[in-house]
Amino acid sequence: MPEAGLAEAFGVTEEARAKINLALHVTGQRADGYHLLDMLVTFADCGDRLGFLPAQADAFTLSGPFGETLAGDGGSNLVLLARDLLRETVGALAFPVHIHLQKNLPIASGIGGGSADAAATLRGLMRLWGMSLPVESLAGLALKLGADVPMCLESRPLIARGIGERIEAVPDLPAFAMVLANPLKGVSTPEVFRRLAAKNNPVLHLAPGLSGTSGWLTAIGSARNDLEAPARELVPEITMISQMLQARGALITRMSGSGATCFGIFTSMAAAQEAASALHGERPDWYVQATETVSGGM
Ligand code: C5P
Repeated sequence: MPEAGLAEAFGVTEEARAKINLALHVTGQRADGYHLLDMLVTFADCGDRLGFLPAQADAFTLSGPFGETLAGDGGSNLVLLARDLLRETVGALAFPVHIHLQKNLPIASGIGGGSADAAATLRGLMRLWGMSLPVESLAGLALKLGADVPMCLESRPLIARGIGERIEAVPDLPAFAMVLANPLKGVSTPEVFRRLAAKNNPVLHLAPGLSGTSGWLTAIGSARNDLEAPARELVPEITMISQMLQARGALITRMSGSGATCFGIFTSMAAAQEAASALHGERPDWYVQATETVSGGM
């Protein structure tokens, strides 16, 4: 459904922006098995889109390039889990709703599609149902849906620690011109964590008062994604994607989340768009997207 169509058909719409882990350091592990992480996260101007409309009975419809893939997942969909969890919390206020998800992001791809959809569902249903929750209660609900859902509620540059729930805004982070590329091989996050060799790596250290694009690029360049090595064992194409992005002028390339999407940062959107069309020409079977990330001062 085109952008205008979704807004016309559904009174309330929400963006579920792609989440990009500029850095992801695994610093420890909790007793329950969850890993402690230090992450520098930003959000792209591309993503899924959701529409919400009062209905006689609950309904859920899908469109977009990855809609059919997700349809096979049925009830495990995070959108429906978010709807049910919020309804449990608000009770009688929560009238039936038709939710439409335009699934533009590949599934299980490390850029938070499912988490961003869940966060957008919480935001959209609160608007539709005319309710609000204290920030801490909402963040608590989000965390029940997944470790990345609280940060997707924010959808702006941030540092997340703990398992992702200790969030601090990064207002100085600039916008970046990026290319996202994914070989359309879904990656299981628990499987990547299981394959991690070291679970107590150095924390993410960002010098205080970092400013300007070049200062941030140096800081990001010297950080890491500790999940990249185990993800490469599952999806060898990750190495090839990084090389292809570098060959087309990326200043920095890295995998996001538990993969397999990799990003390349470029000097300008024109350079990113040129690299994306070249990569798409070479690998039409991959997901390739040029995008600008949001700046901290948005
Ligand atoms: O919270 P979420 O459902 O996104 O996590 C999926 C799986 O990824 C968890 O069950 C866990 O195995 C792993 N995980 C982890 N440490 C984190 C986040 C996720 O080990 N901080």
